Amino acid sequence: MPTPKRLLLLSALLFSCLPTAKAHTIAMIGTGDVGSALGVALAREGHTVVYGSRNPDRDKVRELVARTGNNASAASQSDAAAQADIVILAIPPLVVEDTTRALGDLTGKIVIDPTNPMRLVDGRFERAVDDTSNTEIIQAAAPGAYVVKAFSTVTWQTMLEPDTRAGAISVPIAGDNPAAKDTVAKLIVALGLEPIDVGVARDARWVEGMLLLWINNRFSDRQAFEFHLRPIAE
Ligand SMILES: NC(=O)c1ccc[n+]([C@@H]2O[C@H](COP(=O)([O-])OP(=O)(O)OC[C@H]3O[C@@H](n4cnc5c(N)ncnc54)[C@H](OP(=O)(O)O)[C@@H]3O)[C@@H](O)[C@H]2O)c1
Repeated sequence: MPTPKRLLLLSALLFSCLPTAKAHTIAMIGTGDVGSALGVALAREGHTVVYGSRNPDRDKVRELVARTGNNASAASQSDAAAQADIVILAIPPLVVEDTTRALGDLTGKIVIDPTNPMRLVDGRFERAVDDTSNTEIIQAAAPGAYVVKAFSTVTWQTMLEPDTRAGAISVPIAGDNPAAKDTVAKLIVALGLEPIDVGVARDARWVEGMLLLWINNRFSDRQAFEFHLRPIAE
């Protein structure tokens, strides 16, 4: 039986044998729970983070920039995206289409989509989009970008401190461009999480469904959990 450490190594090997990511300039669009957790975690790994905020001059954003370090800065959402080679949409799920269009030309950039399109219906979370996914919506709004679903099934606390969890945590990734998925996988490995390639942009629908499974259980009297998709050693 392979040990968890061996499985983590296998996962890293699947992504071109490179456990470390090169340093990127990353536009973190949104300064809420996910934006600040991923921003701090990615800066810790040597990336330069530019927060894209609707109000980059306010105290909360200044404090976040200082806490992030490694030459982090803040700008308007579109100015941040223009400076970056990777853009992360850490924004409310139902504004992704308008926000993506407002970011300007994203051609050639990797766009990471951690969003979960859901709404409350009679006390349960249900999907807020039909016959599509936010990843496909973003890809259609920015056809020249390489959109990758990632981080949507992981809590912001786990993004920041994966070592405090009981074991390895998986990050399913989906997108149409293999090279973009490879780059995102390397970022994920460097953060101490386990990337699992689950397919093309269309498959992001099922990744978004994973969060509905998680969140409706989390806010019930049933057992809460985190996702660990154990790779099979062939
Ligand atoms: N919370 C989690 O643990 C978690 C885990 C996985 C995935 N997600 C997903 O990640 C995304 C962000 O979640 P979050 O918990 O970080 O949300 P959040 O705390 O509400 O932060 C969202 C940020 O987006 C910006 N924003 C707010 N309204 C906006 C609008 N109308 N247009 C453009 N930008 C807007 C704000 O930053 P500025 O004020 O600086 O503009 C805000 O701080 C969501 O789609 C969620 O489904 C969340």
